Amino acid sequence: MDRSGRCAFVGLVVILAAVPRGAAVSCDVTENKTFHECYGAVGKPLFVRLITDTTGYQIDFKSPGNEIVFEFRKDKAVVRLCCFNFINNGTLKLDKAEQNYSGQYSLDILDSSGTNIQQKKVKLIIIEPVSSPVVSTLCLPHGKLMLSCSATGDSPRYSWTLKDRPLGSGCFDDGNGVIILKKNERGDVTCTVWNNVSRANTTLTLPTCTGRDCLH
Ligand SMILES: *[C@@H]1O[C@H](CO)[C@@H](O)[C@H](O)[C@H]1NC(C)=O
Ligand SMILES: *[C@@H]1O[C@H](CO)[C@@H](O)[C@H](O)[C@H]1NC(C)=O
Ligand SMILES: *[C@@H]1O[C@H](CO)[C@@H](O)[C@H](O)[C@H]1NC(C)=O
Ligand SMILES: *[C@@H]1O[C@H](CO)[C@@H](O)[C@H](O)[C@H]1NC(C)=O
Ligand SMILES: *[C@@H]1O[C@H](CO)[C@@H](O)[C@H](O)[C@H]1NC(C)=O
Repeated sequence: MDRSGRCAFVGLVVILAAVPRGAAVSCDVTENKTFHECYGAVGKPLFVRLITDTTGYQIDFKSPGNEIVFEFRKDKAVVRLCCFNFINNGTLKLDKAEQNYSGQYSLDILDSSGTNIQQKKVKLIIIEPVSSPVVSTLCLPHGKLMLSCSATGDSPRYSWTLKDRPLGSGCFDDGNGVIILKKNERGDVTCTVWNNVSRANTTLTLPTCTGRDCLH
C-alpha cells in the first residue's frame, strides 16, 4: 500500500540479456544401436558424430524422403542435399538447422568392399531454443508473493531456486513457471528454463510484500 491507501503492486519485470542460449548442438550416434535421436536448435549449427574413424569405410546417408544427403567413398564426401557437410573426422554438420530438416534419416556404413556392416536410423528433431525467461512478481494477500516465469521456445520446462537452493516446502510450484512464496521470504530467486537444446535463467531479488490485503 502506498500512503494514499491505494494498492501498490510490486510489478517487477526483469529481463536478463546476453544469456548464451542455443549455441551449436552436437549429438553422437556412434554407439552400436539401430535407432538414435538427435535434437538440434533452430538457426544454429548441428553436429552429428556418425562414425569415430572413417578410415576404410564408405558411408551413405539418406534423408527422410530417401534422397541421398551425402555419399562418402575413398575418403571423399559428395554432398547432394543443402545444407549439410560431412567432415572427414566422421561428423555430419548441418550449417543452420531448420524445422524442415526434422525427420528420420538413414545411415549405412559399408566396408571398403561395399558390404553393408551397419544400418542405423537417425531421427533429427529440430526445435526452437528457449529465450531468456521474463519473471514478473505480484504481492498477494497475507504477504505471499507470486512469481511467474515465462519464455518462448519449444516445450520449455521451468525450475526455481531460492538463495541457490530448491524451493522449500510451503512454497507452491505449479511446475509450469508459477510459484507462490510464503510471507517474508528474502533473497535472490532464480528461474531456470530449459529444453533439450538450450537453457537460460533469470535472477532477481525478491521484493517485499507488505502483508496488507490489497486485492479487491
Ligand atoms: C552391433 O550390435 C550387434 C547386436 O547388438 C552385433 O551383432 C554387431 O556385431 C555389433 N556391431 C559392431 C560393429 O559392434
Ligand atoms: C570434427 O571437425 C569439426 C570441424 O573441424 C569440429 O568442429 C568437430 O569438433 C570435430 N569432431 C570430432 C569428433 O573431432
Ligand atoms: C528447408 O528450408 C530451407 C529454406 O527455408 C531450404 O533452403 C532447405 O533446402 C530446406 N531443407 C529441406 C531438407 O527441406
Ligand atoms: C528431451 O528429450 C527426451 C527424449 O526424447 C524427452 O523424453 C524429454 O521430454 C525431452 N526434454 C525436454 C525438456 O523437452
Ligand atoms: C544461470 O546462467 C548462468 C550463465 O549460463 C550460469 O553461469 C549460472 O550458473 C546459472 N545459474 C543457475 C542458478 O542455474
